[in-house]
Amino acid sequence: MSHNLLKGKKGIIFGALDEKSIAWKTALHCVAEGAEIVLTNAPIAIRMGEINELAKQCNAPIIPADVTNMDDLENLFIKTKEHFGGGVDFMLHSIGMSVNVRKGNDYTNLNYDFMHKSVDISAMSLHRVLQTAMKHDAINEWGSVVALTFIAAHLAFPNYNEMADIKAMLESITRSFGYQYGNKKHVRINTVSQSPTITTAGQGIAGFDGFVSFSEKMSPLGNATAEQCAEFTVALFSDYTRMVTMQNLFHDGGFSSTGVSEAVVAQMGK
Ligand code: NAI
Repeated sequence: MSHNLLKGKKGIIFGALDEKSIAWKTALHCVAEGAEIVLTNAPIAIRMGEINELAKQCNAPIIPADVTNMDDLENLFIKTKEHFGGGVDFMLHSIGMSVNVRKGNDYTNLNYDFMHKSVDISAMSLHRVLQTAMKHDAINEWGSVVALTFIAAHLAFPNYNEMADIKAMLESITRSFGYQYGNKKHVRINTVSQSPTITTAGQGIAGFDGFVSFSEKMSPLGNATAEQCAEFTVALFSDYTRMVTMQNLFHDGGFSSTGVSEAVVAQMGK
């Protein structure tokens, strides 16, 4: 059901890989709420082809950009400004990749070259994106930027591996750049800390399915779905959240505030 919350707004959605992606669902919701969007992803993800289907549904151009490549990011903002005839009102950073997780290296046996790459893709990229946007004056006054994170930035989740430290950095960049962009142009920047969600990135984590069930049992409202994450993000892009910035907002059905649930205790007692 659309409320036209984003009528007349323009935005960039990073990170739609396939139908399961949180960015995919967010793109559809933004368009349904009246926005026009540009889609972007790494060239290799675009070559896989699925994003073309989303582009058709959203009537959106795709501009490839590897977020670790400054030339790609410059090109993204130049082309986006040309396309819209001006800046954007919102951006979703929905990007994460751990090379060590992919290679099966556990947390006490990390390869640091891989870790550099993971940090660059999953956290430094937010800084790269924001700095390039600022240079090109590509975000309009009172614009809104959302990046996606996970609670392992705050609590130990052994299988989340190096991504725990990397998400902590992402959340810190959100605060530091949120200060700068807020002062300069009233642009707000927040992270949404989402429940475990079955996607390509999510399923890379060892023991992920078991963790999804555990989290479901721990959370008074149950796990938040990708669809619900998209809805929350639309709210953060809308004019109803103009004074919220530099925050990490838990979108997790109450998981982050629950010590233990009766369902988990009952299971342990068996
Ligand atoms: P996904 O695998 O669908 O999305 C990850 C995206 O990152 C892909 O589109 C991929 O192509 C893109 N990407 C990777 N390297 C890139 C590069 N060099 N340049 C540009 N894009 C690049 O998975 P999902 O779950 O939708 O992930 C989106 C975000 O949500 C990530 O930040 C993830 O950490 C976060 N998140 C996911 C949760 C989950 O359980 N799935 C829970 C909490 C947060």
